[in-house]
Amino acid sequence: MIEVLDGLKDVIACESKISRIELIEDKAILEYRGYDIRDLAKNATYEEVAYLLLYGELPKKYELQDFKIELAERRELPPQIIGLLTHLPQYTHPMVVLRTATSYLGSLDRAKDLKTKEENIEKAKNLIAKFPTIVAYYHRIRLGKNLIPPTLELSHAGNFLYMMNGLEPSKIAERALDADLILHAEHELNASTFAARVAASTLADMYACVVAATGTLMGPLHGGAAQEVMKMLREVATPRRAEEYVKKKLEKGDKLMGFGHRIYKHVIDPRALILKELAMELSKTGNPIWFEISEAIAENAYKYKKLLPNVDFYSASVYANLGIPDDLFVNIFAMGRISGWLAHIIEQYENNKLIRPRAKYIGELERKFVPLDQR
Ligand code: ACO
Repeated sequence: MIEVLDGLKDVIACESKISRIELIEDKAILEYRGYDIRDLAKNATYEEVAYLLLYGELPKKYELQDFKIELAERRELPPQIIGLLTHLPQYTHPMVVLRTATSYLGSLDRAKDLKTKEENIEKAKNLIAKFPTIVAYYHRIRLGKNLIPPTLELSHAGNFLYMMNGLEPSKIAERALDADLILHAEHELNASTFAARVAASTLADMYACVVAATGTLMGPLHGGAAQEVMKMLREVATPRRAEEYVKKKLEKGDKLMGFGHRIYKHVIDPRALILKELAMELSKTGNPIWFEISEAIAENAYKYKKLLPNVDFYSASVYANLGIPDDLFVNIFAMGRISGWLAHIIEQYENNKLIRPRAKYIGELERKFVPLDQR
C-alpha cells in the first residue's frame, strides 16, 4: 500500500474544470473557470459568478437578467421551513440551522433524486436563492423581530442586507458584501467541497451533499475561523496589545485564527489581499478599530512566525463593519460557497466514480476473542 499522506496533503483526488490555484514564485493565482478572481471581485456581481460556476461561461446580458430574476423569484421560503426556524431553540448556532433547513428542503422536494441537467440546475438555483433567506429569517426570529420578506428589486447581496435590517443597504455595503461572496464562492478541493464531492460520488441527492458540505464548513479550522478571528479582535481590543497577544499565543503553541493555509504556505492567499482592501475601505465609513487591530496582529504574526493571513482573517473586520453578528460569519461564507459546492456536485454527478480511499491499519492484529463473562 502507498505511504499515508497526512491530511491528504498534495494528493490530487480528481480532475476539475471549476477553479485553478497555482503558485508561481511569490504569487498565487486563483481563477474560477479561467477568470482571475481579482477581475471577478472588481467587475462582476455574485449572480454573474454563480452563473459562471454553474454553467461554465460568463452570462450574456440577457442571460444574466433572466438568471437574476430566476434567483429572486426563488428567495421566499416554504411555510414549513419558516415553521422549523421558529421552533428551533434560540441558542442554536445559525450554521446548525442552515444545515437543518437544507435537509428539510430536501424532504420537501419530491424530485430530490432526479439528476438530469435541468433538475440539477433547478435545485442549484433554489438553494443559492434560499440560503440568504434562511440566515436572515432565523436571525430575526431569534431576536423576536418581524420577518422582512425578500424583495425582487435588490441584488442577491443587497437583498440579504435588506432582509437582515429592514432597510435598503448603502451602495458601499452592498458592493462590499457582493465582492466578499464572490471571493468565498469557490476554492477547489477545500474540506467542505471535498465532503460534498464524496457525498455526490455515492449518488446521494443534492441536498444531502450540501448538508455534508455545510457541516464540514462549520469547523474552526475551515470556515469557522472567521468567527474565532472576531473573538480575537475583541480580546485584543486595541492595536497596542496585539504584539503581546500574538507572542503569548504562539509561545503557548496555540494557533492564530485566520492565519496559515494548506496551499498558501509561503505566498499570501490572494483572497486575503482583496479582502484587506475591502476591510480598509469599509473602515473609512465604519468603525476603523477592527481593521487597525487586524493590521497590528498581521504584522506580529509575520514577525514572530512568518504567518500570512488567509481568507477568513480580513473577512472578520469586513463583516463587523457591515453590522453582521459574529455567529453569522460562517453563514455568510456558506452563502458565497454554495455556488462552488453545487458546481462541484454537478461535475461529480456528470463524471462519477465512487470516492473510496483506503486506510492503513495500525491497530492490533489477530486477537483471540474472549467471551463476555470472562473479560
Ligand atoms: N497559527 C500558528 N501556527 C500555525 C498556524 C496558525 N494559524 N497555521 C499553521 N501554523 C504552523 C503550525 O503550527 C505548523 O508549525 P510547525 O511545523 O512548527 O509545527 C506549521 O505552521 C504547519 O501547520 P499545519 O497546521 O500543519 O498546516 P496544515 O496545512 O495542516 O493546516 C490550517 C492548515 C488548518 C488552515 C492551519 O493553518 C490552521 O489551523 N490555521 C488556523 C485556522 C484557520 O484560519 N483556518 C481557516 C483556513 S482557510 C479556510 O479554510 C477557508
